[in-house]
Formats: sequence, structure tokens, C-alpha cells
Amino acid sequence: MTASVAASADPRTRGDGLGWVSRAVFGDERVALTVGGAPPAGHRAVARYAVVPSLSRARFLLPLGAPRVTAASLLAYNALRPPKVRAVRAALGGLSRVGAVQRAFPTLTVAVPAGAPLAELLLADRLAAALGDAPLHAACGVRPPDPNHKPTLQLFTADGRPRGYAKIGWNRATRALVAAESAALRTLAEVTGVPDHPVTPRLLAELDWAGQLIAVVEPLPSRVRGVPVTDPPRIAALLAVARRGRPAAPLRPLAGSPFLARLTAEADRSAVAGPAGARAVAAVGELARRHGGTPVEFGHWHGDWVPWNLGRHDGRLVAWDWEHSGPDVPLGFDLAHDAFQRAVVLRAEPVATAARAVDAQLDRYGERLGLGPAQRRLVADGYLLEMWLRTWRLADAGAGWNSALHPALLDVIEKRHSG
Ligand SMILES: Nc1ncnc2c1ncn2[C@@H]1O[C@H](COP(=O)(O)OP(=O)(O)O)[C@@H](O)[C@H]1O
Ligand SMILES: [Mg+2]
Repeated sequence: MTASVAASADPRTRGDGLGWVSRAVFGDERVALTVGGAPPAGHRAVARYAVVPSLSRARFLLPLGAPRVTAASLLAYNALRPPKVRAVRAALGGLSRVGAVQRAFPTLTVAVPAGAPLAELLLADRLAAALGDAPLHAACGVRPPDPNHKPTLQLFTADGRPRGYAKIGWNRATRALVAAESAALRTLAEVTGVPDHPVTPRLLAELDWAGQLIAVVEPLPSRVRGVPVTDPPRIAALLAVARRGRPAAPLRPLAGSPFLARLTAEADRSAVAGPAGARAVAAVGELARRHGGTPVEFGHWHGDWVPWNLGRHDGRLVAWDWEHSGPDVPLGFDLAHDAFQRAVVLRAEPVATAARAVDAQLDRYGERLGLGPAQRRLVADGYLLEMWLRTWRLADAGAGWNSALHPALLDVIEKRHSG
């Protein structure tokens, strides 16, 4: 094989999801990647992956070489997957035990110069070192490149035991999300024995490596099941997330709150960055004018409380994906978000409809959070503004505007204020 053929076969040169993920996971140029062929001279092969189902439609890099890892990569967390995906994975999981998977898909071979230190070159080995473990095997999800998305690795020990879940922050937007999740998981590790608080995977390691920020999170229980998307919101769990075992905080007016100060500062920053920000500044002013005197309880929020970030295991609720979590928001934000996201993501409804779903959900369940009518309006208006600022923050960090939310959400906010 000539050098140019070998180079063109390197999946890192691709513009698709496989290219993006392989650049994130095998970023060091000393690492040689070959598909279907032998590693270059002077290199030794250190890992092999099946590219499932094909190079052009890759969805998954399935680690080969340790049959129990191959099977575990296909079978672990299957209860969280949609039925069709689950069935395909289960069938492949059966095949992997007899070695058929190795023959059914293109094979990606990872090789390093003979004698090179693995933990310097390869992410899975660097993570194994950080966890103080023997070699780990990694299964990588592949999806289309997206500035909002993080490549992820499921890490397994050689005997097929899940060892961790790694999220790779690779640009400014995703590094910020990974940093926020790590910070949230660190403080949540101290929240123990709180009745109704969801089980939360612990942070195992966080590392800054080759321009990436990587968080390794404890594996979810392998038999965790997803929460049905039609389930009603879990109010007791929301309260426990907000209060973390502390008694209800005394009510404080929106005016003068750290929350309003943060929204004001963020809106000001968004106004410096671009013209839409001026509308956010005006909207924050209007929020303060309308609701400044309304007393509310402030607490923590999960920040992305939706059925697909929640599961059940052993009769307990499990919550993951704490990238947007934070302190000091009006109690009820997670309840609002749950309604908003179910509308936008599940039902593909426009944000005006989603905003009405927020009002309806707060009207239906708000009393159980102690929210009277004025407080419910504050929570809905404040939440929608918070969501627009989140959308701006991601855009500002290079992830592009979420076209479902911008500029429609600003229009909705302004209309509510003029109503
Ligand atoms: N600790 C974990 N162990 C195993 N699987 C996980 C873990 N955390 C997340 N996952 C799986 O990966 C999916 C994506 O992770 P998530 O944290 O929700 O990130 P995002 O939705 O921002 O991409 C989850 O829906 C879940 O199926
Ligand atoms: Mg998620």
C-alpha cells in the first residue's frame, strides 16, 4: 500500500461523524489508524474496532479483541435504548460471542510506534491511568458532527464490567458543558441520604488533555430503565433536587436576588456580543418590573430535567446529564423545563406552544411546589428567559444558534410581556 492510499484511508480525514469522533478519540498524530489493512511499518496494533454498520453510515465503534467487552458494549444499557436499536444490539451481542461480528463489519486498527507510551497517545489508556486501572476498552458512539455534541466513550474492564462513561468536551461550548457537569457532580457527591433525591452517578475523574476537557462518570446501573416519556413529572424528586435535604428556604423577592443579578449580567454580555442581546436586556428589565416584588423560593436545579435523562433502578429514580445544573434559581424551573422540552423535542411543537405547555404544567403541579399564581407566572417568564440565555451562551461559545429556539423564543417572551 502506498503512503497516500494509507493516508486517505485514515478515518480522521473524513468530514462525517466517523471523522469527527475518530479525531476526538485518536487525536495524537503519532497514532496510526487503518481500516481493513495492516498497521504501518514500525507500529504495533494496540486496539481494533468494528465500524458498525459501515464506514459511510457508522454509528458505533465496537471494541474487538476482548470478546466479553464486545458483548458488553452491545448489551449494557440496552434497556435505555429504543426497541429497534435494542433488538439489533442484542442480536449482535449474541454474534459477538462466536466471533462473527469481527467478520461482518469493517475493522479499524489503532497502532502506535513501537515502544511509544500508550497513556501519552491514547485516550482510553490515559483514562485508565487516571482511574488507576488496568487497561480499559472503549466503545464509542458515532453521530453526525455537531458543535453542541460531545463524543462519548463507554469504558469497560477486560472482563466486560462497565468502568465509566467519558464525555469529551472538544470545543468551547462542549468544554463548558463538561466543566459544569463535573462541578455539579462534585457537589452532588455530598448530597447523601436525602429522601426522594435521585441517584446520581459520581464523577470519577476530570482531565484536561490535548485541548479537550474529559469527564469520566461512574457507570449507570447496567439494568437501568428509562422513564416513560408520558409519565407525569416527579414532584417529590424535583423538590429534593432543589433543596438537597435542607428545609424550605425562606421566600425572597425576585428584585435583589442573585438570580436576577446573574440574568442581568448575562443579558448585558449578550448585548455586547450581538443585536439580539438588546432584546434580552429589555426582557430582563421587564421581568424585574413585572415580578420584582413577587417572593419565591430559590434552590438548585438539574437544568435538563426530561424523561430521557431519567431512569429507574431498584425502585429508585436515577438522574444523569447534569451539564446545565446550578444553584439559585426559582423553585419550579425543572418543572417548567420538563414541559417545555417534551413539547419542543418530543412533539416538535413551536416554542409558542411549548411556552403554553409550561404554563399548563405549572398550573397543574405548581401548588405542590408551593407556587401560587403570581409565582407560577414568575417561574414561567424567568425560565423562558433563562432558556434563551442558554441558547445564546451556546451560540456565543461557537455551537451555533439552536434554530428551534432562536429567535422564536425572544418573540414569545416579548409577546408575553406585552400581554
Ligand atoms: N454514567 C453513565 N453510564 C452509562 N451510560 C450513560 C451514563 N451517562 C449517560 N449515559 C448514556 O449516554 C446518554 C447521553 O448522555 P447524557 O449525559 O444524557 O449526555 P447528552 O444528552 O448531553 O449527550 C444517556 O442518555 C445514557 O443513555
Ligand atoms: Mg441527555
